[in-house]
Amino acid sequence: MTNEVPLPGGDVTEGIVRVGGTVRRPLGPHSPLVHAVLGHLESVGFEGAPRFLGLDDRGREVLTFVEGEVAGRPHPAWLADDARLASVARLLRAYDDAVAGFEPPAHLLDAVAPPDLPGMPPEPSVPDGAERFIGHLDVTPENVVFRGGQAVALIDFDLLRPATRVDEVVNLCLHWAPLSPEQDRSDPLRRADAVVRTRLVADAYGLDDPARALLVPTAIRRTERSWHLMRHRAQTLGGGWARMWADGVGETILRRLEWLEAEGDRITVGLGVGR
Ligand SMILES: Nc1ncnc2c1ncn2[C@@H]1O[C@H](COP(=O)(O)OP(=O)(O)OP(=O)(O)O)[C@@H](O)[C@H]1O
Ligand SMILES: [Mg+2]
Repeated sequence: MTNEVPLPGGDVTEGIVRVGGTVRRPLGPHSPLVHAVLGHLESVGFEGAPRFLGLDDRGREVLTFVEGEVAGRPHPAWLADDARLASVARLLRAYDDAVAGFEPPAHLLDAVAPPDLPGMPPEPSVPDGAERFIGHLDVTPENVVFRGGQAVALIDFDLLRPATRVDEVVNLCLHWAPLSPEQDRSDPLRRADAVVRTRLVADAYGLDDPARALLVPTAIRRTERSWHLMRHRAQTLGGGWARMWADGVGETILRRLEWLEAEGDRITVGLGVGR
């Protein structure tokens, strides 16, 4: 029997293993959408994602293993490298452009629609005429593969859902600028200048001015919504979600909100909006 090597990663999915040149992951309600998106990316020749190879005899999804360097814990010092960050933003732009032409069947989207929770504020406003496409929305350091110091692939498409370019850039900045107070950052990013790094991401991604103007309000609204969503997942799904909630992710989200409200104007000015 081929050797199964555990791949430790995020907080939620257990049982992810490497088998030779492939990765095996358990399925979830989102999986049919992920497989459709990966199939689309393959059909348009997008190289920055694993290929979906089908299901194995144990009903797990089989993906190609992408060779390269992925940040683990503790976070490596290179997370603070601006050139790497720009390459992540360019990769995300390339993904968004590649997925933009894809319209999944409605029932695949139903499976990932967020619940309407009492007290949860509505989705953020979007720029006039903004494109919507299936965003990655989980561009954490652990979900990007690098080669030669450049981001070459996104992995872990479990949080795919309809998004705008602002949503994608906000998510990237959340983890990489990062948009959080010093106490909640890992060591390499503790002293990173989030204003400068957000601008760098917006420039490398090619975010237009109307989208830049909505970046901070979108980050605030997404943060407010994530508090409700995380609490709901902890209550209804248990497992890693309940563990994260017990470990204080709710408080971390509220500290982020406070930080965004304090730093938001500096970030918006740093983005060069209204020049
Ligand atoms: N296709 C792949 N190619 C290369 N490495 C991979 C691939 N899939 C996963 N990995 C490695 O395994 C780790 C965990 O995998 P993945 O990100 O898919 O799941 P996870 O983060 O544990 O799950 P979740 O975020 O849902 O809790 C990644 O951080 C990466 O190091
Ligand atoms: Mg992951």
